Amino acid sequence: MPSSKFSRRQLLLGAAAFSGRLLATAGQAQVESPPAPIYSRDDRWHPVMGVAGMVASQEAIASRVGRSILAAGGNAVDAAVAIGLALAVTLPRAGNLGGGGFMLIHPAATRETIALDYREKAPLAASREMFLDAAGNADPEQSRDSHLAVGVPGTVAGFALALARYGTFTWAEVLQPAIALAEQGFPVSQDLHESLAFARARLSRSPASRAAFFKPDGSLYAIGETLVQPDLARTLRLLASEGPSAFYQGAIALAIADDMAANGGLITQADLARYQPVIRQPVRGRYRGYDIESMPPPSSGGVHLVQMLNLLEPFQLANLGHNSAQTIHLMAESMKLAYADRSRYLGDPDFVPVPVAGLTARRYADQLRSRLNPYQATPSVAIAPGNPQAAQRFESNETTHYSVIDRAGNAVSNTYTLNFSYGTGWMVPGTGILLNNEMDDFSAQPGVPNAYGLIGGEFNAVEPEKRMLSSMTPTLVSRDGQIYFATGSPGGSRIITTVLQVVLNVLEHDLNLAVAAAAPRIHHQWLPDELRVESGLSADTLRLLARRGHTVIERATMGSVQSVGRVGDRFFGAADPRSPGALAIGL
Ligand code: GLY
Repeated sequence: MPSSKFSRRQLLLGAAAFSGRLLATAGQAQVESPPAPIYSRDDRWHPVMGVAGMVASQEAIASRVGRSILAAGGNAVDAAVAIGLALAVTLPRAGNLGGGGFMLIHPAATRETIALDYREKAPLAASREMFLDAAGNADPEQSRDSHLAVGVPGTVAGFALALARYGTFTWAEVLQPAIALAEQGFPVSQDLHESLAFARARLSRSPASRAAFFKPDGSLYAIGETLVQPDLARTLRLLASEGPSAFYQGAIALAIADDMAANGGLITQADLARYQPVIRQPVRGRYRGYDIESMPPPSSGGVHLVQMLNLLEPFQLANLGHNSAQTIHLMAESMKLAYADRSRYLGDPDFVPVPVAGLTARRYADQLRSRLNPYQATPSVAIAPGNPQAAQRFESNETTHYSVIDRAGNAVSNTYTLNFSYGTGWMVPGTGILLNNEMDDFSAQPGVPNAYGLIGGEFNAVEPEKRMLSSMTPTLVSRDGQIYFATGSPGGSRIITTVLQVVLNVLEHDLNLAVAAAAPRIHHQWLPDELRVESGLSADTLRLLARRGHTVIERATMGSVQSVGRVGDRFFGAADPRSPGALAIGL
């Protein structure tokens, strides 16, 4: 039974939810929410404010590039593409040309958000057993560190498509800031200096990476010294003059294919020539009267974000208190149920029948909630994936996220990645392009965890031209068709739970965007059965969670949330204080 320290109201809410009584009111829980003050609360940190647009990214120079595009009359998509290209220069651990990602675009004119999927694909020669050793066991070195680890990159094609359909600037114009940064260099930040120091051994295996990121004697660039990347500058210039096809059919494609052939990789010119980004419908949900739009499969992010919001909405977490033991317990138990489902039902929808409608149905959440004990942690071994088909009717910080909103109300939420920090660490000679190791996001062997400890199933087995399952969760929250805020985060398996907490912090707990980003986070992913927490929770909260049966482990910070929002004619932004180089900047 619950501790007597809980208030009578908490006990009633918990008990009601467990017995199903609260569920009866769930349908009526379309509670008119108060306008959540993403900008107010003068007693706490403020978000950044602007009057004509807002940009937030993990790297300050790239944020300024985005702002300058908006200031020059570009829209949110122009700015987003220019930021993504600039990050490939200034945040090489995650910004990229040789990786892939997802971009949600909300055009203010039509209010029809699209989900642009430019995720990497397995090459044509990939096979189900390619990451198994002679004994039939998964070999992580092959899926993370070798040329076999590389998925066919999608970033250049994705950005080009976004710009062509929704932008107003030319491809050459949005490449210009990145070219200048690569050619003329930029001052090495503390963040870049430290991440290069951390990745030095991994990067030094590749002669091109070593030459690009370290001095001739192998030493690090000091903070404030200028880093020039001539090979990358040449590649960017080629993209500007010949267009994105240079990457997929021209000189860059040839360089990638040659490097693959020389190092046991699988990607050929044919793989690159066949790569196509896909425009998909976002996953949609509702929470307290706000519309949630997020990334559909092949990301698991949107599906499980909506699933967890559905599970949690009837609990009235605001009454239980932000980051109280009771609230954290309910979030953790919801996370376990969602991640168990992820292990079975998520994969590339072009290859496997992902039951998106079932997983995001309120009716399914109602069923799952009956398995959620509001008082005591259910051991993960006692949790199996649910049965969403029945409802079908109805860190590390390897990735990076940025958000943009412009004067007209166009908004972009973009998360892209090389998977690990600097991907494989391998740079294609002469190009400045770092290769991703995204193939590790497939399940090398059903039931064997990947680098994030995530268990995958048959649906996420390797197949030629399949997209590997992701957790990236670029998200837009709107009301009456108008964007309220855009958010997202890096963090591997922690991305989905990080975004969940930002959305809850604003919509449920009434925190502004800055406080929502800064507040301590928790994470549970079903397996391993541990409740990971950041520092900053009170000792008695941790004690109460342990008493409920959670194995609580305090670890490093999770995620790097970059959010922008709008209320009326004012724009707001918040860069995650966990990332020292991040910047939200308004216009
Ligand atoms: N590579 C991390 C993800 O896509 O979720």
